[in-house]
Amino acid sequence: MTKPQPLIAGNWKMNGLGASLGEARAIAAGLGATSARVALCPPAVLIHRMSEALKDSAVLVGGQDNHWDDTGAFTGDTSAAMLADAGAGMVILGHSERRAGYRETDDIVARKTLATLRAGLEPIVCVGETLEQRKAGEALAVVTGQVRGSLPADLAGKAFSVAYEPVWAIGTGLTPTTPEIEEVHRAIRATLVEMFGEAGKGVAILYGGSVKPSNAAEILHADEVGGALVGGASLKAEDFLGIIRAV
Ligand code: 13P
Repeated sequence: MTKPQPLIAGNWKMNGLGASLGEARAIAAGLGATSARVALCPPAVLIHRMSEALKDSAVLVGGQDNHWDDTGAFTGDTSAAMLADAGAGMVILGHSERRAGYRETDDIVARKTLATLRAGLEPIVCVGETLEQRKAGEALAVVTGQVRGSLPADLAGKAFSVAYEPVWAIGTGLTPTTPEIEEVHRAIRATLVEMFGEAGKGVAILYGGSVKPSNAAEILHADEVGGALVGGASLKAEDFLGIIRAV
C-alpha cells in the first residue's frame, strides 16, 4: 500500500459570506504545483457558489456535516445528497464542535458516515480528546475508541480520511508536541489496519488544531501525518497557501 496523497482541507466553520469567495479564488489562483489535494469546506449555503467559482481549479469543495437520513422531516438539516448536488465532493463528520455542541455520539457519526457514502461523497471523520482526558492519560484510548465507533465497516474499499483534532488545540493557539502528535497518529494507524487490513495503511490521517504557516512544516512532516484540517488559517488565502506550501 502506497502512502496516501496528503490532503489539506480548510474548515470555514460558521464563517464566510458571498464576499468571502474572493479568498477562495485567491487560494485557487495561488495554488501552483503541489503534491497535496486541497479542499475548502465552507458553510452549506456557500457550497454551490464556491464550487462554481472554483470549477476550473484543483481546489475541491466539501461540506461540514450531513444528516444520517437521505430525505425527510428534519427541519434545518442538510442531506449528503444535497451537498453533492450543490457541488461538494467530501464532508467533514464528527467534528468536536458537533460532538460537544450537538451531542453527536460515535454511533451518530457512523450513521452520518454511511449517508455520506450513499451520496458518493468522501468523508473526513474527526476524532480527538479533551484536555481533561489527556491529563488523565486517556488520550490514546479515547481517540482509538472514537475511530472504532465512528467508522462503519462499509468504508472498506472507499476513499476517506481521519482527522485527529485534540479539542484543546482547536482555536487556542496550543498544539501538542510533535512526539505527542506522532503517538496518536501511530495509534490511529494501528487501529485502521486492525479494522481495514492493508487498506488501512492508505488512509490519510490529518492533524487539526491551531495549524498555521509557522508550524505547518514540522507538523506535516511528522510520522503518520497525512495532511491537515485547518480552521482559522483557512479563512485567509495567504495563510492557507503558506500551509499548503509546507507539505
Ligand atoms: P483551528 O485551525 O482554528 O484551530 O481549527 C481547527 C479545526 O477545528 C478544523 O476543523
